[in-house]
Amino acid sequence: MQFHIITIFPEMFDSYLKGSIIGRAIKDKKISIKFYNPMDFCEPKKRVDARPYGGGPGMVLRPELFLKAFSKIKIPSKIPRVPLGKKAKIILFSTSGKKFTTGYAKGAAKKFTDIILISGRYEGIDARVQKILRAEEVSIGDYVLTGGELPAMVLIDSISRQIPGVLGKYESLEEERVSTSEVYTRPEVLKYKGKNYKVPKVLLSGNHKKIDEWKKGG
Ligand code: ADE
Repeated sequence: MQFHIITIFPEMFDSYLKGSIIGRAIKDKKISIKFYNPMDFCEPKKRVDARPYGGGPGMVLRPELFLKAFSKIKIPSKIPRVPLGKKAKIILFSTSGKKFTTGYAKGAAKKFTDIILISGRYEGIDARVQKILRAEEVSIGDYVLTGGELPAMVLIDSISRQIPGVLGKYESLEEERVSTSEVYTRPEVLKYKGKNYKVPKVLLSGNHKKIDEWKKGG
């Protein structure tokens, strides 16, 4: 899976993409991430944003710069009229977009080879970018963030872990089998501010049938 991210803040992704499972997936070439920065196409001494037509607060990101950044994306399956072909998906983050879920992530991991993520800031990106590219607007939840960079990271994380080989065998098996999020490790008795907090007895029993039932909430 190739993720193509259009953002004016690529450095926000640095530490996240280096860490843990996503870092390993990039090293193992299960996923790749490319950045396209609209700022690179901004004329000297000009701004990446401008005042909104019709008035109102804040600034709007200029469409030509995002379209220029987009035009640098190279995908082998490009076909005329459909901007990127069937196996590519264009997503633009918006609080009013389609709700992102694990189901969406599973579908995306199966269907697409390339996912383009367009992250805006300020009051948003000029609406013509979404219309021209026929991008799907996606929201990661009913709260307002300061930009689309966190949503892009959320999608990359959630979609990547659905790609075969990204999670270790054990991690993915556990996910299929288990429904509880309660997990325990040593010590068996945790002392904290004069109180003892014990691991549930069933987990120490060695009885795997009982343990599975407990994990399923029964
Ligand atoms: N931009 C700002 N908030 C957002 C959200 N919750 N989801 C997607 N994009 C956003």
